[in-house]
Amino acid sequence: MTSVSAIPRDLDSFLAENDARIHGELYDLLRIPSISARSEHAADVARAAEWLAQAIRDIGMDSAVHQTEGHPIVIGEWRRASPNAPTVLVYGHYDVQPVEPIELWTSPPFEPTLRDGRIFARGSVDDKGQLFLHLKAIEAHLAVRGSLPVNVVVLAEGEEEVGSEHLAPFIERNVELLRCDAVIISDSAMFAPGLPSILSSLRGLAYFQIDVQGPSTDLHSGSYGGAVVNPAMTLARILATFHDAEGRVAIPGFYDAVRDWEPRARGALRDLPFDEAAFRKETGAPALGGELGYTTLERLWMRPTCEVNGLLSGYTGEGAKTVLPSRAMAKVSFRLVPDQDPAEIEHAVKSHIERVKPRGVNVTVQHLHGGRPWRAELSGPLFDAARRALAAAFGKEPVITGEGGSIPVVGDFARVLHAPVLLMGFGLPGENAHAPDEWLSDENFTRGMRAAAMLWDELASMERETR
Ligand code: BES
Ligand code: MN
Ligand code: MN
Repeated sequence: MTSVSAIPRDLDSFLAENDARIHGELYDLLRIPSISARSEHAADVARAAEWLAQAIRDIGMDSAVHQTEGHPIVIGEWRRASPNAPTVLVYGHYDVQPVEPIELWTSPPFEPTLRDGRIFARGSVDDKGQLFLHLKAIEAHLAVRGSLPVNVVVLAEGEEEVGSEHLAPFIERNVELLRCDAVIISDSAMFAPGLPSILSSLRGLAYFQIDVQGPSTDLHSGSYGGAVVNPAMTLARILATFHDAEGRVAIPGFYDAVRDWEPRARGALRDLPFDEAAFRKETGAPALGGELGYTTLERLWMRPTCEVNGLLSGYTGEGAKTVLPSRAMAKVSFRLVPDQDPAEIEHAVKSHIERVKPRGVNVTVQHLHGGRPWRAELSGPLFDAARRALAAAFGKEPVITGEGGSIPVVGDFARVLHAPVLLMGFGLPGENAHAPDEWLSDENFTRGMRAAAMLWDELASMERETR
């Protein structure tokens, strides 16, 4: 193991001396309810974009807000490094998930509160806090030294939580603006407290809404039941065809493009200090379950899946109402692994439903959003720089982890910009992302800022690729 170097003194003291102000600014950002899924919050999402653009100008970078047909994209630029210095793009998202069920929050989601070393607020860990720590790390360099060792582009989007629909076209239209030698993202979690982590994979996503339409109105389930096909039962039967008895996805062609993990990566995964019982406890589920023949981490990181995310039909109120529902609806997502392609999966799912759907109802399948899976290059100068910066900030060598979640744009960065992507996240297990009482470890926020600040120095030595 290499010896662990230290965070440069000047950057460290700047961040320490400005800690209270930095927290105050983060809390201001967290107070903006930038919920991208809700049209009534569109003005708040726009306000968060403007707030960020100003925060980027305040630290000494140029900034612009680009309108899209959805929510705006914020760009920051600082390009005054020496002529041969590499260019690094920092990506994050400033939109957040809805807050329901709001009654389960201990403190209001948009009133950031520090309790037990945790910053509670919607967006604290996912992803405003993790995006903001990068801005403050850049600020430290510009404030203390007047410059950065590399050119920097910041890209903050407002649609990640709803599928990043307008981001890929934006990247394709702005390749010159975004051209870079590396992409850095903090929008994931560490494997355990005190254990810095570099992410080696993200799953992709193909997400659908399935609607089953039967009779034109709800019917008396006695007067009509038995003679009219029941949409709720139909939907249940369709959903039941999605898996076989061994937990595999039973849609023909689903696994065709799945590429095997290298044995080395699968071995590394087995070496992680994973506590299965603690994981089960964290979920509150009575037991774990999934595809036969794979461990829990393999099921989460290595294997593709199919999940029902929501189900709606008929009478769900108090007591019993005898009714044959006119409609039923399910939201179903498939998490994908390399080299599954969201468009090919859409085709496979639609053909499968066509084949299994019974007569007597109309079934429609609507594509909601999708994203490609991604797997990292676990060597090279970017990876080494991150390893050193994380080791210095946390006093411990980082581990390599995988992830079951998705960040749709990562595949697009790799595809369009041909740049290596580094994912170093500062969340923690149990952080309640997307759930009530979302939190960011205050210690990780502080260490994350220092790791990010040190990373810029480490990256300066990275050779600029000529292409
Ligand atoms: N930050 C998450 C992705 C993530 C989750 C990374 C867990 C690491 C650990 C991101 O904001 C997210 O929630 N992505 C969505 C995808 C999207 C299209 C709604 C997801 O994975 O469901
Ligand atoms: Mn996120
Ligand atoms: Mn999220």
